[in-house]
Amino acid sequence: MKKILVTGGAGFIGSAVIRHIIKNTSDSVINVDKLTYAGNLESLIEVDSCERYAFEQVDICNRSELDRVFSDHKPDAVMHLAAESHVDRSITGPAAFIETNIIGTYTLLEATREYWNTLEQSAKTEFRFHHISTDEVYGDLPHPDDVEASAEPLANEKLPMFLETTSYEPSSPYSASKAASDHLVRAWLRTYSLPTIVTNCSNNYGPYHFPEKLIPLIILNALEGKNLPIYGKGDQIRDWLFVEDHARALYKVVTEGKVGETYNIGGHNEKKNLEVVNTICEILDTLVPKESAYAGQIRYVQDRPGHDRRYAIDSSKMQRELDWMPEETFETGLRKTVQWYLDNSTWCKNVQDGSYQRERLGLEATDSKGNE
Ligand SMILES: NC(=O)c1ccc[n+]([C@@H]2O[C@H](COP(=O)([O-])OP(=O)(O)OC[C@H]3O[C@@H](n4cnc5c(N)ncnc54)[C@H](O)[C@@H]3O)[C@@H](O)[C@H]2O)c1
Repeated sequence: MKKILVTGGAGFIGSAVIRHIIKNTSDSVINVDKLTYAGNLESLIEVDSCERYAFEQVDICNRSELDRVFSDHKPDAVMHLAAESHVDRSITGPAAFIETNIIGTYTLLEATREYWNTLEQSAKTEFRFHHISTDEVYGDLPHPDDVEASAEPLANEKLPMFLETTSYEPSSPYSASKAASDHLVRAWLRTYSLPTIVTNCSNNYGPYHFPEKLIPLIILNALEGKNLPIYGKGDQIRDWLFVEDHARALYKVVTEGKVGETYNIGGHNEKKNLEVVNTICEILDTLVPKESAYAGQIRYVQDRPGHDRRYAIDSSKMQRELDWMPEETFETGLRKTVQWYLDNSTWCKNVQDGSYQRERLGLEATDSKGNE
């Protein structure tokens, strides 16, 4: 029975991790979250009455508050997920990404190190600092369409994938800030012997995903009869992983992973963005049929600057060393996700119009832009 301090536990993946731990293990969780626009305590409603769950509204950049949380709760492990995570936002406003992802990770490492130094030797050895990162730190990979057009075409199966040893080449302010945080975590192991582990994961999808990201945005826009925006030609390839498979993988890593190791986590689901959008439209055509097909709402918009062409994760180390494999295929996971958004319109409405934030802050009704 461990006490695990989870940062960013009110976010998309953090809340899935907490639901997994509370429902499937006897461990306790301390959720440390600042509750930015992306943090939503309604995502924890299934578990928040459990006595093994505690919430601390704390900014990971606030050292004295972190020290208090460590001293009050005395965790056996940290799973660090708190971050600014949306690439588009990092392009229009990188400052928050530098602040939370780099300074916040540094502050959390220092608070953890000071607390860890007070532990008895056996607790010190057992302690884990698990940093949750992204495959975007590796940059992008050759795209099959480009390879086909080149002088020496490669067979699709020979296209390279990200390995744990792939060198870092981040493209966006988001991925650069995550890369910096990964380096800090590894340096704290090498310099101070803090027992750290890093995981780098591909794109997640599933329930409770904030509707600015591709899959929930497309589902909700489609249902509301709005345009379905696709960047460029929609040929960017991502490797999609169902969030609950990721949560299982993360718990395996924090409990069974080896200190100092990096583990890549992926879904074995390389899909072009356009293919993802078309599949969502087909699922909606069967679940919520209307006169015209949902795909008719697709509109192509100007590509994101510096947009990576392809990501693909080789997660064979997770399979080999920790006996982890994703349970959902893309088709089963996507169908579950679409059904979840259909069944949880109140969560979607509260997130879209900001009313969950207003309730939290005790404010009067305002529209999504914050106007009365
Ligand atoms: N979503 C993906 O597809 C994906 C893939 C691979 C890795 N990751 C990584 O996983 C982690 C979680 O991603 P997510 O999609 O759940 O993100 P998210 O944006 O949904 O949630 C982030 C959470 O962190 C909290 N937070 C932000 N700044 C904070 C601060 N200064 N102090 C305390 N809390 C703060 C937010 O309130 C929110 O609850 C991130 O580190 C991200 O880089 C995400």
